Amino acid sequence: MKTEIAREGAAKLRVPSISFSDPHHCEVFFNPEMEFNRTVSVAVLRAFRNGAAVCDGLCALGARGIRYALEGGAKNVVCVDANPAAITLANKNIALNKLKNVKAVESGLNKFLDARPSSFDFVEIDPFGSAVPFLPSAVRALKKNGMLSVTSTDLANLCAGKRVSAERCRKDYGANPIRCDFSHEIAARIFAGKAASFGFRPVLVFYQGHYVKGFFVRGKKARLGFISYCPKCLSRVTGKLLHCACGYKMQVAGPLYLGEMCDRKFLQKVMGDERVGKLVALLENEQGFPPYFFDLHAVCDCYGLPGKAVATSIDNLRAKGFKAVRTHYCPNGIKTDAGVAEVAAALR
Ligand SMILES: C[S@@+](CC[C@H](N)C(=O)[O-])C[C@H]1O[C@@H](n2cnc3c(N)ncnc32)[C@H](O)[C@@H]1O
Ligand SMILES: [Zn+2]
Repeated sequence: MKTEIAREGAAKLRVPSISFSDPHHCEVFFNPEMEFNRTVSVAVLRAFRNGAAVCDGLCALGARGIRYALEGGAKNVVCVDANPAAITLANKNIALNKLKNVKAVESGLNKFLDARPSSFDFVEIDPFGSAVPFLPSAVRALKKNGMLSVTSTDLANLCAGKRVSAERCRKDYGANPIRCDFSHEIAARIFAGKAASFGFRPVLVFYQGHYVKGFFVRGKKARLGFISYCPKCLSRVTGKLLHCACGYKMQVAGPLYLGEMCDRKFLQKVMGDERVGKLVALLENEQGFPPYFFDLHAVCDCYGLPGKAVATSIDNLRAKGFKAVRTHYCPNGIKTDAGVAEVAAALR
């Protein structure tokens, strides 16, 4: 395997050269596009706890675990992967960064975690696809006041990309996804709902590109519920409704997490580079809004409207006394307490 040295955050990493053109066909997986995901994770660990005992489950070549030690203030890190070639490369990377408090272990992750109950302050799960098969073991291996850091790249399933994907989502998450202009928020809320079923609440959840990422701590019994959506007039409401006011049959997503997707106080502690700051600012603004957003392009298409700048639409809604903000889920999206009719009016 041809490798080269890359820099990410404070880490020097030996990575397969093919990672930069075709990360999905490497003997050892490394996706440079996930740098932001890893950078947010490091910022979250720093905000959560200094001196944490960390398990970087599914570590591949150790990028995350090494960054947790170098930048996240981790006291010690165990990197785990079932692929022997990944562990060989992770060990080279640990040596390259002169780290004595990081080790790499070749093992199936669930087997590794099951042998270490209540051992870690922070458990990372970054699988190919759904994280669901790893959650029970991760939860057991976490200390009582620990944090779960989970990435799910099964967005096609969580967003009901196809009929078969929706079935997979129902099987993995016990929740119905729907295809609509705010599918990505539904995906994130189904994902958070799964964590809630283990007694966890989100402190920071975000969506980007092909994944949802969430950080969870143990919490009170969560509010799970449903969102109903009308594909004809684009109305959306919380709860399970059979028919829309327009008479059309509603589609129902859920059960999913209806509470706040971020903890405001925790967000204030998350410090990072400009991109992290921008994400955190958007997430802060989104708190206190209904559990869905409107994609203004979809509303314009549905109502035959020419379209307006997001900022103007927000101003128009605010002028009528509604709350309205941008959302990290979509550059053309807004979160508002207004209904679809008022959103359409703000676009006229
Ligand atoms: C998406 S990659 C991890 C990427 C890595 N966390 C990063 O940020 O670069 C998933 C990794 O999980 C490993 N893997 C898959 N199933 C596993 C299992 N059951 N136990 C341990 N490792 C596993 C694969 O070998 C692969 O390296
Ligand atoms: Zn309707």
